Amino acid sequence: MKNMQDLMEHTIQDLYSAENQILEALPQLISKAQSSQLRQAFEQHQRQTEKHVQRLEQVAKQLDIDPDGETCMAMQGLIEEAQDLLDQLDGDEITDAALIGAAQKVEHYEIASYGTARTLAQQAGQDKIADLLQQTLEEEKQTDEKLTEIATTKANQKAVKA
Ligand SMILES: [Fe+2]
Repeated sequence: MKNMQDLMEHTIQDLYSAENQILEALPQLISKAQSSQLRQAFEQHQRQTEKHVQRLEQVAKQLDIDPDGETCMAMQGLIEEAQDLLDQLDGDEITDAALIGAAQKVEHYEIASYGTARTLAQQAGQDKIADLLQQTLEEEKQTDEKLTEIATTKANQKAVKA
């Protein structure tokens, strides 16, 4: 990697890998969710994630690169850690709280990466790409806020009672 363009391409490929890993992991999270509110939030995020993958494909096309080519090690680690945690859970009461915590780590990683990629695109004057990345960034932030809302209203209250 030599320049900002290379760095942006790397970031897009990294995100493409991350999003695809999330798509693979989400069915498990959906099946483990205890409350219908959390299950629905994950299902909605699954549909959004499919869109995020498509947007990254559009971005790659604009950049004239292959979106494949990187493995996002951070996402691998986050998902592994989530699976580890889920394996250790005993009892349904804390499951949603744990799922939300794991999902928010994923969201925060994505928010950081999309923010970086968006800024790199802006600085390179690639407004169309910056706009696509910004759209996804907004949706990741909304998901994060929604998870906080669910955590503070339902899941964690249940956990406290347990
Ligand atoms: Fe996403």
